[in-house]
Amino acid sequence: MAALLVLAGGGAAATLWTRPRGDPAQPITFSHRVHAEQFQIPCLYCHTAATRSPVAGIPSVERCMGCHKLTATTRPEVIKLKGYFSRGEPIPWIRIHSLPRFVYFSHRRHVLRDIPCQACHGEVEKMDTVRQVGPLTMGWCVECHRKEQASLDCLTCHQ
Ligand code: HEC
Ligand code: HEC
Ligand code: HEC
Ligand code: HEC
Ligand code: HEC
Repeated sequence: MAALLVLAGGGAAATLWTRPRGDPAQPITFSHRVHAEQFQIPCLYCHTAATRSPVAGIPSVERCMGCHKLTATTRPEVIKLKGYFSRGEPIPWIRIHSLPRFVYFSHRRHVLRDIPCQACHGEVEKMDTVRQVGPLTMGWCVECHRKEQASLDCLTCHQ
């Protein structure tokens, strides 16, 4: 119960953190529409961790270069990409979705149940810039858990 009282105290901050955000300017203009829709690259090709860990993960510069050593090499944004690669620097992507720390979420369990990415993230393959679609509120999580007969126990999401 102590944990839940602490949770209640963190409420105001949690609401700020989970508010849907605008389109942040990313260090490289990366388009999901081009990659996931036009060129049909599967979500899991880049977000490979989603089937085996809590996080979905963002692909490494090396993974991008697997194609971009040969593909679109003269485009300005791809030249920027090659710059990160040759300096051995990770790309400082700005994170869009994030739950407050007191919430436990795992991609693995959801993805292994064949819940499509789009059920929570919307049609990312139509987006040139990713924006948050699912509100990521407790009510939103619980509504689907109720519908899918998944756990409603507080400790499932607040460990
Ligand atoms: C399926 C996941 C899930 C379950 C089950 C769940 N919660 Fe939450 N809870 C969340 C998420 C996500 C947030 C953060 C977003 C928000 O505040 O809406 C949250 C936020 C909270 C907060 C902070 C409130 C605030 O105003 O920000 C409290 C307190 C809380 N939960 C208590 C509970 C209690 C008590 C239960 C059991 C009756 C419970 N939760 C069950 C996902 C869950
Ligand atoms: C070619 C690699 C690639 C493919 C394919 C890809 N993504 Fe991404 N994804 C990225 C990169 C890089 C980012 C970080 C930059 C950004 O936010 O645009 C990202 C970011 C995201 C984010 C936002 C993460 C955050 O910061 O909260 C979501 C959600 C997402 N991808 C879902 C998907 C879905 C769903 C698909 C399939 C329809 C998909 N991605 C296909 C590379 C990819
Ligand atoms: C599986 C192959 C593949 C991977 C992996 C891949 N891309 Fe691409 N990328 C492409 C293709 C194909 C195009 C489109 C080229 C064209 O328009 O002719 C493209 C286009 C681009 C463009 C140029 C868009 C434009 O029109 O100017 C950028 C920038 C880009 N990718 C960045 C990235 C980044 C960053 C990553 C890693 C997160 C990545 N790509 C991973 C295949 C890939
Ligand atoms: C049941 C809802 C749900 C499904 C299904 C889902 N996600 Fe997520 N995703 C979330 C939530 C919630 C967050 C924020 C997690 C956090 O802050 O801890 C998130 C965050 C992310 C992020 C950024 C943080 C990270 O984990 O790397 C990426 C990228 C992402 N999702 C991609 C995907 C892809 C790709 C799929 C499909 C393979 C997918 N998601 C399926 C709910 C979902
Ligand atoms: C689109 C529907 C959907 C949404 C939205 C959703 N979930 Fe789930 N979740 C499920 C289903 C279905 C399961 C059961 C998976 C299984 O049985 O393997 C599950 C399972 C879980 C589990 C694992 C339960 C366990 O017993 O280990 C956690 C933790 C969880 N969800 C947290 C969350 C949180 C936190 C959110 C919101 C940020 C959320 N979920 C949003 C459908 C959803």
